[in-house]
Amino acid sequence: MKIAIIGSGYVGLVAAGCFAELEHDVLCVDNDATKLAALARGECPIHEEFLPELLKDYRGNRLVFTDDLCGAVAASEVVFITVGTPPGPEGGADLSSVEQVAREIARGVVLGNGGYKVIVEKSTVPVFTAGWVRRVLTMSGAPRRWFDVASNPEFLREGTAVCDFLCPDRIVVGVNSERAAEKLRAVYAPLTTGAYYRRADAIPPPDNARIPPPLIETSTRSAELIKQASNAYLALRVSFINAVANLCEATGADVDQVREGLGADARIGRRFLRPGIGYGGSCFPKDLDGFRDVAAQHGCDFRLLDEVKRINAEQRERFLRKVREALWTLPGKRLAVLGLAFKGGTDDVRESPAIAVAGRLLAEGASVVAYDPAAMPRARKIFAKEAAAGQIEFAEDAYAAAEGADALLVLTDWEEFAALDLGRLREALRCPVMVDGRNVFPPARMAEEGFFYTSMGRPAAEPRRALKVKKAS
Ligand code: UDX
Repeated sequence: MKIAIIGSGYVGLVAAGCFAELEHDVLCVDNDATKLAALARGECPIHEEFLPELLKDYRGNRLVFTDDLCGAVAASEVVFITVGTPPGPEGGADLSSVEQVAREIARGVVLGNGGYKVIVEKSTVPVFTAGWVRRVLTMSGAPRRWFDVASNPEFLREGTAVCDFLCPDRIVVGVNSERAAEKLRAVYAPLTTGAYYRRADAIPPPDNARIPPPLIETSTRSAELIKQASNAYLALRVSFINAVANLCEATGADVDQVREGLGADARIGRRFLRPGIGYGGSCFPKDLDGFRDVAAQHGCDFRLLDEVKRINAEQRERFLRKVREALWTLPGKRLAVLGLAFKGGTDDVRESPAIAVAGRLLAEGASVVAYDPAAMPRARKIFAKEAAAGQIEFAEDAYAAAEGADALLVLTDWEEFAALDLGRLREALRCPVMVDGRNVFPPARMAEEGFFYTSMGRPAAEPRRALKVKKAS
């Protein structure tokens, strides 16, 4: 099938690569000439497993990059809108890019001269967006019988986006006509019939994947709400476990044990119950605000979401208090920071609690030596001023960051941090103090390894053996 993807950002590129993998012909549109040139040269602008390979395999044949939105729409049967919907001034998503492309899509529909098209919103958008897109297209001259607007929310997580796309828990398709439903069923048929997974060259599905995935058909409004409600619920789980972790600290319980007992209930499950310094990223904070706004606009009391947000913000403060408790005063202290991305496995620093915490430490007069396996280029831009002033440095690896530091702070749950050589880290640090905002290490092991160790919702640990006093450097 001929597919156009409007917007070569995170969701758009992943969708483009994956639809090409499903043997569709994809025209991937963007208005950023620099980005298009980089893509044409074979570069992959985001850090995502399998994506560089997909782009390499299909670039120039099943996958073509172009700035000709109108032509791409005219030539396609299904058009996915995947432009950015950044947080707006009021907290919810700013939909001006969606409106802008909807106008241009209308011209493409007209140019298509009667060829029926389904325009699908895939970016994270609030309820009623499909209705607005339909209206903008109609008002821009696209004849109503030539198109339908559908909603097909994307549930991919950064870092595992390609696998999430190809092996989703479910595919949600919000449609208001059978014609549109048929087209979207055909787009996803390689997944829903299981044909893709039988291919010898298929990207192997994760162990727990539900194969083939179900396709859930709903109205466009329900599909839009499913997306926002899913993210709000997951954010709620994170805030819930963070509140439980705080109670564990207050009562001397251990959140790891509590999680085990809690998650063993099949109704609750184990996922999304890791405490930490709070959720971040481009989706949760924005979707939560958007969902709250929608509820408020429709006179529905959903103050539960305010509390989710409050707990999340408070979590950073709790972490900062732990740092102050571990170090007494902050001005002039040298702090090693492990992790700047909003979660492990990605280079994304949008709404990253790690960036917020590092910023606060700098503002309080500490100096920071940071290391992140992927997010340092983006973080350098954010802290350009502080870097120029020599207040923040970026290290080549975790050991270099720890060298001579007064404490080591873990801010992102990168898997590779768990495999660090703790003896080497301890030797590099000026004082063996670690404040772990992501519970990467087991406290008993940290005591064994000679650390003063605090984490989230678990008892603090102290070195089992007497400390060797370090010579002043
Ligand atoms: C999320 C949704 O999972 C995805 O379906 C949607 O399409 C986009 O938003 P993503 O933002 O990539 O995906 O991150 P996710 O892995 O869901 O984590 C979100 C945040 O919650 C991260 O900051 C993460 O560190 C935090 N988190 C997650 C926790 O603090 N504890 C957990 O147990 C799980």
